[in-house]
Amino acid sequence: MQITVNVNGADYSREVEARLLLIHFLRDDLGLTGSHWGCDTSNCGACVVWLDDTPVKSCTVLAAMADGRRVRTVEDLATKGAGEAGGGRLDPIQQGFAECHGLQCGFCTPGMMMTARWLLDRKPDPSAEEIREALSGQICRCTGYENIVRSVLWASKHRDGTVASAEADE
Ligand code: FES
Ligand code: FES
Repeated sequence: MQITVNVNGADYSREVEARLLLIHFLRDDLGLTGSHWGCDTSNCGACVVWLDDTPVKSCTVLAAMADGRRVRTVEDLATKGAGEAGGGRLDPIQQGFAECHGLQCGFCTPGMMMTARWLLDRKPDPSAEEIREALSGQICRCTGYENIVRSVLWASKHRDGTVASAEADE
């Protein structure tokens, strides 16, 4: 079937099988490999993207269900720089994960960041408990979650990403 999906602001039209999952459409058809495919059971959350501004596990959504809709992936978090030299800027949530060591292997990180960005857009100053609740559908095998929560808190306190990192610990 023919579908057209707006991904990160650009329309993509493709012929796909009706059974194709959104995660595979993004990774294999569009080459957007930032979203990870970590399980076959809808448990891990490494595949989380936004579908019309709502985080979804893209392994639970058919590509056909995204026809005519908007998808946002982790590739859209950083602002793009002009020219080949780049010059883009990380989203504060990306900076937070870097500042607070919110990852080890990094496999869960794209999904964690997309859910965290969604939370911060709606609740700019969440508590640690609210962050844990928002991320409760996602699994990290490495960090024990402490630094992930710290990373999101860092981002909540550095909304334009420009405050010196030393202030994050205050
Ligand atoms: S790959 Fe989607 S929840 Fe694990
Ligand atoms: S950093 Fe390895 S699974 Fe989360």
